[in-house]
Amino acid sequence: MSEPLVLGIESSCDETGVAITRGHELLVDAVASSVDEHARFGGIIPEIASRAHLEAMIPTLSRALETADVDLSALDAIAVTAGPGLVGPLTVGVSAAKALAIATGKPLYGVNHVIGHAAVDQLVHGDFPDRFLALVVSGGHSSMLLVDDIATGVHELGSTLDDAAGEAFDKVGRLLGLPYPGGPHIDRLARAGDPQAIRFPRGLTAAKDQDKHAYDFSFSGLKTAVARWVEACEAEGREVPVADVAASFAESVADVLTAKVIAAAHRNGVNTVVIGGGFSANSQLRDKAAQRCAEAGIELRIPPIRYCTDNGSMIAALGMSMVKAGVAPSTLDFGVDSSMPL
Ligand code: KG4
Ligand code: ZN
Repeated sequence: MSEPLVLGIESSCDETGVAITRGHELLVDAVASSVDEHARFGGIIPEIASRAHLEAMIPTLSRALETADVDLSALDAIAVTAGPGLVGPLTVGVSAAKALAIATGKPLYGVNHVIGHAAVDQLVHGDFPDRFLALVVSGGHSSMLLVDDIATGVHELGSTLDDAAGEAFDKVGRLLGLPYPGGPHIDRLARAGDPQAIRFPRGLTAAKDQDKHAYDFSFSGLKTAVARWVEACEAEGREVPVADVAASFAESVADVLTAKVIAAAHRNGVNTVVIGGGFSANSQLRDKAAQRCAEAGIELRIPPIRYCTDNGSMIAALGMSMVKAGVAPSTLDFGVDSSMPL
């Protein structure tokens, strides 16, 4: 078979994404976002996101097909996010994908969004090695995956026990009075601060956690520590050194994520780490991962940020891997799963 032509549809949160790939080549990546509609609420409102997907889905699909000059009849497969994510938004994408599959008779794959965040890297850096570690970090997920085959052999080593990394940034952003989503604002502030100014806790790194939670994360205690520190500062009538707080907080998150992923790589004998998800835009994480991977002799693959935020190309990339691996398509009676396991 020549390189498969795959249409990917993503709608698990606030981005409506439609992309078309031919093998590793990304022909088009069309995205419509409702993020601005949620900003004034300080978080994603599922009902608003669902309606926005419903309105954006067909125009985004048409735009993708026109831009790539692809006819639906030429597709080899359709892939769609079946979970995890918000039920209403997922349902819009899955319904659209099923309708397309019925109309065209093309095979349909309902796929896992978290795996998609890792799968997209092959569009940028080429074939994956036989075995690698993937760290998927976003506003909704913080997972460490051991990957033998992106289509058929993904094992979750650990994940966050409470907040995702991006979620922790957004919550700390709120308590520092920054606009939603706070992540990018903290990143910018942190660059002007001293990361060693305040020693915030490193969740689940104590010796007692090394057996049970070696690959898990916890960021809610850190968030509370920042809140207490800021409150104490205000109670004493001192001005909060926002840049130092941001830098010290970001340092703690980047330290824990990179230390755990490198320890996991050593323990599992792998030489390649892939980082994906919207939080991989974070400068402190990128810098520390680059430095520590170089020191450890580990190849680090992080796709450019436009591939890391939610989009259709990650779903098309995973669909492509499934087609190539000979995975049987989904039957048309599958549902969405808001907490879909790996
Ligand atoms: O993958 P994504 O676009 O959506 C989800 O699936 O969640 O990730 C968005 C998350 C938000 O929490 C946002 O604040 C965070 O990633 N984020 C950042 C940065 N850019 C995005 N957090 C810290 N530093 C950044 N530069
Ligand atoms: Zn995501």
